[in-house]
Amino acid sequence: MDTIIEVKNLTKVYGKRNTAFTALNDIDLSIKKGESVAIVGKSGSGKSTLMHLLALLDKPTKGQIFIDGINSTKLGSHALNRIRNRKFGFVFQQFFMNANDTVLENVLLPLKIAKIGRFKRKKLAEEALKTVDLETKAKNKAKDLSGGQKQRVCIARAIVNNPEIIFADEPTGNLDSATGDKITDLLFRLNKEKGVTLIIVTHDEDLAKLCSRIVRISDGRIISDKSVRKDVQQKSSERWEKEAARVKKANEKGA
Ligand SMILES: Nc1ncnc2c1ncn2[C@@H]1O[C@H](COP(=O)(O)OP(=O)(O)OP(=O)(O)O)[C@@H](O)[C@H]1O
Ligand SMILES: [Mg+2]
Repeated sequence: MDTIIEVKNLTKVYGKRNTAFTALNDIDLSIKKGESVAIVGKSGSGKSTLMHLLALLDKPTKGQIFIDGINSTKLGSHALNRIRNRKFGFVFQQFFMNANDTVLENVLLPLKIAKIGRFKRKKLAEEALKTVDLETKAKNKAKDLSGGQKQRVCIARAIVNNPEIIFADEPTGNLDSATGDKITDLLFRLNKEKGVTLIIVTHDEDLAKLCSRIVRISDGRIISDKSVRKDVQQKSSERWEKEAARVKKANEKGA
């Protein structure tokens, strides 16, 4: 497998002098194409900071991030935007987004930035909305949706440009279990069927076990980095599918 992200001596210090705080301390990490990586650790351990750096949304204080072998730390903002737009999908709640625009406009934004034609981007955005079961909300203002629906709009926007890597920070964090299951299913289907690389920050150990690899962070350092054995991953996946089917059935009964 090819390496898609490589990180060397990554350090992030927030603030200056007496308020300086080292959120990431000398991290080395290499992620291959098609992997699904869970990043886990306590609150404040540096997970989101790492995610933002890997997704080229913030600059490290020290160290380098290579994307497909290209040293991103040497690139200007135009080139960085291009990589983000073409290769990445983000599911970060805090990037939710243009409250007064419609759901459809929010979803097609990455395509607009990538200069995809009007007709095609509308079609792709509608498809993405269908995938997350929100096609009926396309014309609503984003701010009028529920929390879980907003999260699904984020997912639609993350997948609309057919990304190579999806970065997801607590993608199921604020969702009821049925909606969370749907998102989980979608992410792992993209991984298995399209080879999309997944990098997921999560507190949910069950979600972590669905990944091919678990990276644990504590106080800004990687304290363990383990592949999940194929058979263990398979078992977790089967157990998860059963549970998701049970939740779905119970919901249908309740509805
Ligand atoms: N902009 C900032 N300025 C100063 N300190 C920051 C900033 N962003 C994060 N930090 C600090 O860096 C540390 C790591 O933050 P980070 O958001 O990466 O944690 P996290 O592991 O994602 O936590 P959580 O699980 O609560 O989301 C925390 O102690 C946080 O207070
Ligand atoms: Mg966080």
